[in-house]
Amino acid sequence: GVDGLIKVTPSMLRLHNKRDDAWSAFSGKVYNITAYLPYHPGGEKELMRVAGRDGSKLFALTHSWVNLDYMLDGCMVGFLVPES
Ligand code: HEM
Repeated sequence: GVDGLIKVTPSMLRLHNKRDDAWSAFSGKVYNITAYLPYHPGGEKELMRVAGRDGSKLFALTHSWVNLDYMLDGCMVGFLVPES
């Protein structure tokens, strides 16, 4: 829930770049995409390209029409913040 949201720095994000522990940031929001990987219509391999990093640009290039906020609402971890 909202109460559990955390601030995530790029270096924290980078730690979650594994198939069984994958986070990605889109438009300033960080999501745990692990559970969604097998369901991505574009395949796991494509989605894993953004694991551990900011996927905003790649997402916008591939399918800006997809409402990611709505789809991944329950997987939100927190907000991407600058390195402290
Ligand atoms: C297709 C969701 C990230 C590559 C799709 C579709 C959805 C989706 C719903 C079907 C779209 C349609 O048919 O109109 C998501 C979500 C993402 C994500 C929620 C983030 C968590 C990415 C990334 C890439 C990517 C980062 C590329 C590196 C693709 C490709 C397709 C696709 C190539 C087309 C598959 C096909 O039609 O054969 N994705 N996507 N996606 N996605 Fe993603």
